[in-house]
Amino acid sequence: MPTYQVGYFVGSLSSKSINRILSKALIRVAPDDLEFTEIPIGNLPLYSPDYDGHFPPEAVAFKAAIAASDAVLFVTPEYNRSIPGALKNAIDWASRPGGENSFDHIPAAVIGASKGPIGTALAQQSLRAVLGYCNARQMTAPEAYIQYSPELFAPDGTITAERTEVFLTNFMAEFREHIERVLTVLPRQ
Ligand SMILES: Cc1cc2nc3c(=O)[nH]c(=O)nc-3n(C[C@H](O)[C@H](O)[C@H](O)COP(=O)(O)O)c2cc1C
Repeated sequence: MPTYQVGYFVGSLSSKSINRILSKALIRVAPDDLEFTEIPIGNLPLYSPDYDGHFPPEAVAFKAAIAASDAVLFVTPEYNRSIPGALKNAIDWASRPGGENSFDHIPAAVIGASKGPIGTALAQQSLRAVLGYCNARQMTAPEAYIQYSPELFAPDGTITAERTEVFLTNFMAEFREHIERVLTVLPRQ
């Protein structure tokens, strides 16, 4: 059975991020043949086309980490009904320079947590539009809008509510199947 390398992005720079807790929970319940590496976004400068042709080391490392991944997972908060600027900046770096879009054909999934009742639905809608333009192969179902509450997760990502554990386990199992399906027809170079 192949092992798939999954690079994941946490869209929050907060040291107390509930989305980081969610990312830990997702890793706990993921199928055994998925291996996870966080791809940090907080050290990237603000993207400018002036960098095209001579990317700084942080951006070179960032694109190399995506290239080493079989698939990517976005775990993001909602900021002002969209994605945080830091995540959009990271995606812009990944998409450039022209002709070197790191997300082309990559299997991808999106999920997010907020304390509010719509659980990042609008951020994910916004993210899906961006990833669509970047030609990522997104898992479209199941969707996962997590309304965070401390009763659902311990800070180390242990899931303390059975319904949530079942739901997230299924989400990650479906993501694994999605990765396999996409890579069967579009193998990574
Ligand atoms: C600038 C800003 C904008 C926000 N906008 C939204 C929003 O549009 N929808 C929402 O549900 N929560 C919003 N929130 C609240 C976040 O969901 C909450 O801060 C959450 O904990 C962020 O995730 P994190 O802990 O992973 O950083 C916003 C928070 C900030 C700081």
